[in-house]
Amino acid sequence: MRAIVFEQYGGPEVLRLADVPRPSPGPGEVTIDVAWAGVNFADVKARAEGYRVEALPFRPGLEVSGLIREVGPDVTDFTPGQEVAAFLDGGGYAETALAPAATVFALPAGLDLRTGATLPSVLPTAYALLHEVGRLREGDTVLVQGAAGGVGTVAGQLARLGGAGAVYGVVSSLDKAGHALKSGYDEVFTAATFDTDVRAATGGRGVDIALDPVGGETFRRTLGTLGRFGRLVSFGNAGSEEPWRIGPADTYPLGLSVSGFSVLGMAAQEPQRLRRIADAAFRTVTDGDVELPVSAEFPLGRAAEAHRLVESRRSTGKLLLRVGG
Ligand SMILES: NC(=O)c1ccc[n+]([C@@H]2O[C@H](COP(=O)([O-])OP(=O)(O)OC[C@H]3O[C@@H](n4cnc5c(N)ncnc54)[C@H](OP(=O)(O)O)[C@@H]3O)[C@@H](O)[C@H]2O)c1
Repeated sequence: MRAIVFEQYGGPEVLRLADVPRPSPGPGEVTIDVAWAGVNFADVKARAEGYRVEALPFRPGLEVSGLIREVGPDVTDFTPGQEVAAFLDGGGYAETALAPAATVFALPAGLDLRTGATLPSVLPTAYALLHEVGRLREGDTVLVQGAAGGVGTVAGQLARLGGAGAVYGVVSSLDKAGHALKSGYDEVFTAATFDTDVRAATGGRGVDIALDPVGGETFRRTLGTLGRFGRLVSFGNAGSEEPWRIGPADTYPLGLSVSGFSVLGMAAQEPQRLRRIADAAFRTVTDGDVELPVSAEFPLGRAAEAHRLVESRRSTGKLLLRVGG
């Protein structure tokens, strides 16, 4: 079967369409004939700098939709031919993907396979960031970095749906502000001035919750936008700066909390928890409250173009690879 592989780290050009053996499911696993594969920033980080890559060659791809091909010996929840969406530990950019049955979801009624591929990674992530880790309460003010991207697009809508008093987004250029403003955000600021903009928008109080996937200097400045008892959730290091460090002087005066989250960690350690969060998160889409528009799609063999688009920082919403869809 055909799959995207890279044998060395580097630019998008290291992604190669290869002929590889088709996987077969072991206990607790299924294989999926992939219709669509979601492109995640984590795939770009894996390719560029080896994020979560244990060995080369490596096959990227954390989420797919498609039809169950085969089920492992002890798998009773799925049958061949069934339409599913799945969260994987890699290998999604392929004609057939191997997935742990624990993180495969029957395609919710009313959703097509193309929409299904947009959901497994970013939607449970944004839901968990706001509701589990950030503990969103009615009336809270929320700030989201990367507001026009995949996670950001759904985080704005979920925050509003969850009763946030105001939702502020940060984007690298104002070209993306229109997209964010359609995605639940009340105001959108640029990376250059967001901290002073947040102070002005909140009458000097600062926000209750901030979500940061960038790290480094952005993390530090985002911490400075929190008001009393504010909660900052770090969930990525898009800027590839040194890991952040904080101490009592940063948190004591205003009673701040800083926490982290990894959907990959939760999927590996507690897949049932991911399933419960995903069920609640997917319901917001089937109920028509949340949308994740696909801004670009590419055939499997042109995965490098999708990565180029993400790295150009011009993409909004979700990018997909068309495999059998
Ligand atoms: N911890 C978790 O469980 C988890 C799960 C999913 C995603 N994430 C993280 O959440 C973020 C969004 O993921 P996604 O897959 O939805 O991607 P995405 O948002 O569609 O694309 C990457 C985003 O990162 C922003 N960005 C900031 N600094 C960047 C840099 N130096 N290079 C490129 N982009 C940069 C871009 O927005 P601007 O250009 O507007 O700044 C863009 O919105 C990523 O950092 C990802 O690693 C974490």
